[in-house]
Amino acid sequence: MRKRIQWLEDAVFYEIYPQSFKDTDADGIGNINGITEKLPYIKELGCNAIWLNPCFDSPFGDAGYDVADYYKVAPRYGTNEDIVRMFMEAHKLGMHVLLDLVPGHTSWRHPWFVESMKAQKNEFTDRYIWTDSIWESPEGYGSLRGISDRDGSCLVNFFTHQPALNYGFYKIDRPWQQSMDSEGAIATRNAMKDVMRFWLSKGCDGFRVDMAGSLVKNDEDGKGTIALWQDIRSFLDESFPEAVLVSEWGEPDKSIEGGFHMDFLLHFGPSHYNDLFRCEKPFFGGEGDASEFVEKYLENYAKAAGRGLICIPSGNHDMDRLARTINGDKVKIAFAFLLSMPGAPFIYYGDEIGMRYVENLTSVEGGYGRTGSRSPMQWDDSLNAGFSDADGKNLYIPVDPKADRPNVKSQKTDDTSLYSEVKKLIAIRQSHKALKNSGEIKFIRNGAEGEPLVYMRSCEEERIIVALNPAGKDQVLQTDGECSEVIYSFGGTPDFSAGKCRIKRGSAVFIKIS
Ligand code: NOJ
Repeated sequence: MRKRIQWLEDAVFYEIYPQSFKDTDADGIGNINGITEKLPYIKELGCNAIWLNPCFDSPFGDAGYDVADYYKVAPRYGTNEDIVRMFMEAHKLGMHVLLDLVPGHTSWRHPWFVESMKAQKNEFTDRYIWTDSIWESPEGYGSLRGISDRDGSCLVNFFTHQPALNYGFYKIDRPWQQSMDSEGAIATRNAMKDVMRFWLSKGCDGFRVDMAGSLVKNDEDGKGTIALWQDIRSFLDESFPEAVLVSEWGEPDKSIEGGFHMDFLLHFGPSHYNDLFRCEKPFFGGEGDASEFVEKYLENYAKAAGRGLICIPSGNHDMDRLARTINGDKVKIAFAFLLSMPGAPFIYYGDEIGMRYVENLTSVEGGYGRTGSRSPMQWDDSLNAGFSDADGKNLYIPVDPKADRPNVKSQKTDDTSLYSEVKKLIAIRQSHKALKNSGEIKFIRNGAEGEPLVYMRSCEEERIIVALNPAGKDQVLQTDGECSEVIYSFGGTPDFSAGKCRIKRGSAVFIKIS
């Protein structure tokens, strides 16, 4: 049985895209010291854990998801010493930090790949997946071909400049495909363990793992990849039992079996996450339907129950900003959901103040349509929204140009702001065990068209009904107990009479049941 990590029980994460959070040296790009400076802000909001997007040396063809040196913080962000100091400061504040591990591919500029491209056999020949002839492309994958003397095509994982590391094939049907226990595949696995060991020894608390389900190829049911992660977990259990792993996988049954503590619901794949926030008629926009999400969630919940957590993010660096599809008070109802569900909530930087998707930007560092969700954090109403002292034209990504762009400073002093609501919701979550990460959930109404989304969160000590009604009609709810206390309400307090409760349109309420 995997060690239970105590701090995960009440972890509320904050995702930081380092480029855009806080620039302390006026070069137009965020840095690690900027993050350290802002830790008290994150703590004050109520978040006690951080997921930091990749900050390692890279040519930045995919914003750092194309690593060129796993052991070195990219100079534009600072030094390894800076990040160690950041870990220490975070720990002093009772916070934890997960780095972003990209084990599936590197940059084509990584020295391993440079060696691997050579015609002469060397230590890195099998570090990546190569066919044995330039004329054969790996079926079902993109490939890098004709760029070196090596006679072969190298499989790529994502963009063309991200060659796939070799963890072997689960089913082998071509002579160049190596098994999971081949020398090359084992060497890659060990190299990745070394990377983990390095950063865990320096004080990070674990990793968010990029494309965690994609490592072993020809592995339709994920059996090979699960076994690979189980082996990595055993290594961690021996040397770093406290190390936390959260996966970008989207299939909690598999990732949790592989040893991950948590898995994300993603904006792609089967989760119906987008039905809630990002589609033509999102549920939290007031006109949508949450029922398919609920059905899928329950399936996943049953698979993960008691073994691991499902994380529902407010957004991330790959999705449109929440505020692109949901606005006004409805965002508060969406946050009432995000902060009352089981599993660890993840807040994408700036979502707590309703930062907007910046339209019509030219792609920056492989961002393409994602660039608009990666603009600088808006701290105040000074130059560059307080993000940087650089000349505005030298910023990594331009700041939201709208005059009424939200900022932290003004929202902090406004009790009715989104920031204040999010802060209040986190505090309520943290003071009620039933609402915390491992409390149970039972759905009462599934948010089918026009219906509210209603669920019961419970633990031994308490039961809390959460009713979310973003639609335009009041709703009557039958309760199976006495409503003893309204612990949260937004958009109007409910009316109670004779075991019934009227939930106002456009409202969110948490009610304690005795
Ligand atoms: C998922 C990351 O979140 C995304 O930003 C990146 O482009 C791909 N994986 C490739 O690493």
